[in-house]
Parts: sequence; C-alpha cells; structure tokens
Amino acid sequence: MLRIVKYPHPALRYESVPVQRIDDSLRDQVRAMFDLMYEHQGIGLAANQVALPFRFFVLNVSGDATRRDEELVLINPEIVKRHSSVEEEEGCLSFPGLYAPVRRARKIKVRAFDLNAQPIELDADDLLSRAIQHETDHLSGRLFIDLLDKRALATVGPRIQEYVEAFRRSQAQGEIASDAALTNDLDALSKRLGDLAVR
Ligand code: CO
Repeated sequence: MLRIVKYPHPALRYESVPVQRIDDSLRDQVRAMFDLMYEHQGIGLAANQVALPFRFFVLNVSGDATRRDEELVLINPEIVKRHSSVEEEEGCLSFPGLYAPVRRARKIKVRAFDLNAQPIELDADDLLSRAIQHETDHLSGRLFIDLLDKRALATVGPRIQEYVEAFRRSQAQGEIASDAALTNDLDALSKRLGDLAVR
C-alpha cells in the first residue's frame, strides 16, 4: 500500500538508485502511483515520493485520469539539454497547498527508458518540460523549495515550517517512524537495486 510522503520525510532528500529491472512488479507500482497522483489532483509523482528510492516517475500533464494516452513513465531519466529559462508557479504533492514561482529551463531534451525497457528521447517545452525537471530533481533529493529566490522563500518559509512541525508531531505521536528508521528502510530497499517485488 503506497502513500505519498510529505516534507520533511527523509525519502524526499534521498539519492535514488537506478532501476535495474523493468518487470510486472514495477508496472504494478507505476499503476498505483498514477492512481495516487490522480486522487491527489497531481500531474507528476516521483517514486521517492511514495518512499521507493528508485529513479523513475509518472506524469500526466493533463491531470485527467481518463487521458491514459497522456500518461508518461520515465525510468532512469537524464536531462541532456536545457534551453533558455522561464519562471512559473509550481507545486508539489509532498507540500500540499504550497505554490511558489520557480525558474527553470523552458525547453529540455530528456533520455530515459519506458515501461517496455525501450530507450526514449523526448523534447519537451512549457508545462511538460517543467514537470520533467521537477520530477527528475526529486530523484536526486532536490525539491522545488530549493530553487526559490529570497522573496519567494520569505513568503512560503512559515508554511514550510508548518510542514516540518506537523511531521515532527506525527513522529512524536508514533504515527510516523523516526528519521533513522525511515532512512534504514530506504537503504534496505535501495540495496535491492531496483527489485521492487521485495517489499
Ligand atoms: Co514534487
């Protein structure tokens, strides 16, 4: 049973490991992630946002669960080109309700593998480009709040502190494990090198 983790869960700062095997258990995880993403009105979800420390994410920039043709799964993605830059509002399912302006490349080229283990190369601009950059950052433990300028950070800083306090309260009440225990789980999973079947 997958759940979206919220900041500052250690999975969000975890350096995810490459997927080694694309199999039915990975396909099951992907389907479950799409369902969670739609349920929370998102357009993208990285594996470490459901505490799976592997380098893949799901996307549907239409945000429409009926538009399966718009679904994208990028496995072991690498952004190989970035062109010009643009600032837009951005949010993240691990920071529900938080939005802030983030500057990112306007156009990118990304290489990855799809669910059939086929290499894909994609040129993206606008929202798709932004979403791919946001999700690829997640896989290396980078968050959109890391990219805010001083003014944006001053605006959303108190809100970020509220996420931290809520998370620590849940830990104190035993609803969420300690950071050390959560990190141990991530280490154990990542050592299985992409074998998502064992969980
Ligand atoms: Co996010």
